[in-house]
Amino acid sequence: MVKQIAVIRGDGIGPEIVDQALRVLDRIAVLYGHTFHYTDVDMGGCAIDKYGDPLPESELKKCVESDSVLLGAVGGDKWNNVPGHLRPERGLLRLRAGMGVYSNNRPAKIWPQLADASPLKASIVAQGIDFIIVRELIGGIYFGEHKTEGNTAIDVLKYSETEIERIGRIGFETAQKRNKKLCSVEKSNVLDSSRLWKKVMHRLAAEYPDVELSDMLVDNCAMQIVKNPAQFDVIVTENMFGDILSDEASMITGSIGMIPSSSLGATACGLYEPIHGSAPDIAGQDKANPIGTILSAAMMLRYSFDMPGEADAIEHAVSSFLDAGFRTADIMSDGMTLVGCQRCGELIVRSLQKI
Ligand code: IPM
Ligand code: MG
Repeated sequence: MVKQIAVIRGDGIGPEIVDQALRVLDRIAVLYGHTFHYTDVDMGGCAIDKYGDPLPESELKKCVESDSVLLGAVGGDKWNNVPGHLRPERGLLRLRAGMGVYSNNRPAKIWPQLADASPLKASIVAQGIDFIIVRELIGGIYFGEHKTEGNTAIDVLKYSETEIERIGRIGFETAQKRNKKLCSVEKSNVLDSSRLWKKVMHRLAAEYPDVELSDMLVDNCAMQIVKNPAQFDVIVTENMFGDILSDEASMITGSIGMIPSSSLGATACGLYEPIHGSAPDIAGQDKANPIGTILSAAMMLRYSFDMPGEADAIEHAVSSFLDAGFRTADIMSDGMTLVGCQRCGELIVRSLQKI
């Protein structure tokens, strides 16, 4: 197959981790006879420096016209003092909204080889950590009105039934493909938007009788993720709660550097990015972990290009890399071999096999 991939390297460690993911995709292309064309897209701080805008329309257009988008990370201290509407992160939000990718899928799964890297007690890890957070991505407080009037700042949190229903359906469908347990997370003891959320989820439940729906308040969920993560299969939640809970969930699997994500909307054109940030403190030092980005590329093959075998091949190669005792700095432990970002990519490419 021939696919057009828009590539956003972004800022900080973005360029180095994306380069490793492209090496992996190039090897997949050779092994399976595909052709991947890459189009470079500027977004984030680098776009602010070049165009004075974190995502010019022309750059967004390249993304919307591609078959999918692979993104490293954006942002950094250098752009901390630019006005809110011009921050690098605003480029990312505009990209998500411009592509219409309302459904963000963030897996929290522990690799058996990294069980020691989890900060949780071994007895909790032993019960298993394997769940998915389905995060609503283009609504809620991130996209409500933002304004500052004198000494008062306002951010509006708003959800319509339609917005809740479409992400709710993704939650139910994701659970149907797994262990059929969906936990809807909200703050319905305080927020109107959460009460509407809960009502819509329960209305949808009638259409998915094979899925067991439960409700949980977000503060309790934050606690349950560290106390008893094995209870979760699929969590569905709004934008900001999903942002916070997915960082927490990633950490209990050992490292945020390992976690990929997919974002999809009404079409097969998706946005694929690791969930970590641009880590400017280690940028350009060949220390970053490219695995979250490499696994994001695998998700692109699985969910947007219908190439499940190719995606499995990448995941197996990552597993072999870990089995062989190689570790990047963020997941390093006693007796393992420390490798840099490039070497990590090279070793994963070397273990890739057609399966
Ligand atoms: C994420 C990030 C972004 C978000 C930032 C960079 C805007 O934290 O993808 O989780 O809050 O969505
Ligand atoms: Mg986040």
